[in-house]
Amino acid sequence: RGLAGMRADLAGRRVVVSAGGTREPIDPVRFIGNRSSGRQGYALAATAVARGAEVTLVSANVALPDPAGARIVRVGSAEELREAVVAAAKDADAVVMAAAVADFRPVRRSAVKIKKTDAEPEPIVLTRNPDVLAEICAHRARPDQVIVGFAAETDNVLANGRAKLVKKGCDLLVVNQVGEGVGFESPSNEAVILGADGSQTPVPYGPKETLADTVWDLVAQRLG
Ligand code: CTP
Ligand code: CA
Repeated sequence: RGLAGMRADLAGRRVVVSAGGTREPIDPVRFIGNRSSGRQGYALAATAVARGAEVTLVSANVALPDPAGARIVRVGSAEELREAVVAAAKDADAVVMAAAVADFRPVRRSAVKIKKTDAEPEPIVLTRNPDVLAEICAHRARPDQVIVGFAAETDNVLANGRAKLVKKGCDLLVVNQVGEGVGFESPSNEAVILGADGSQTPVPYGPKETLADTVWDLVAQRLG
């Protein structure tokens, strides 16, 4: 399968992958961001191309070489990512949301650089961003579309993951354990892929391409 077996099991399929982390502007030179590198999303895009899919990669602030053969749409903020993902999802067989989307953004973006004065700084007031994954699940472009989310959890990984899958309404949720110390629920696993059908697929610690190929295996199964 995948690169090794050159299996084109996603031939003729249109897939959308979001990758990286959004940046929520404060002023023209500053933002609230996160540490996502985009590596997992780029691995998902590359493996999908290798398996024959037509890939749209919605890339948020990633400093990696473009994966060959994918259509790349660059975005900055969560609202830009939402627009790009919703548009690309319209005629997609599968959507994989690997991007780290900011939950909140500053209410106001200063048009000019905020200057330091002798006064104390103004607080940055935040508001909620749209939940892109929940939105595309609630308003599926096609009833048979397969939608995959990602979640990093520090504790009660499986229970929190299962609850998140149900709340978002996605078909698959890739759950990673993060934080120091090893959890007792899935000590030797880098990730567990939960299915809305109750399935649970552990993916041992290893390269992001392996996790990506396992995600596409499960997506391909569900596409039938
Ligand atoms: N996600 C999204 N839009 C957001 C936030 C998250 O589409 N505004 C997607 C992410 O791309 C990921 C999934 O939702 O695939 C889970 O993200 P996560 O941050 O774990 O979920 P939240 O619902 O934001 O919950 P939490 O309070 O744990 O951050
Ligand atoms: Ca979040």
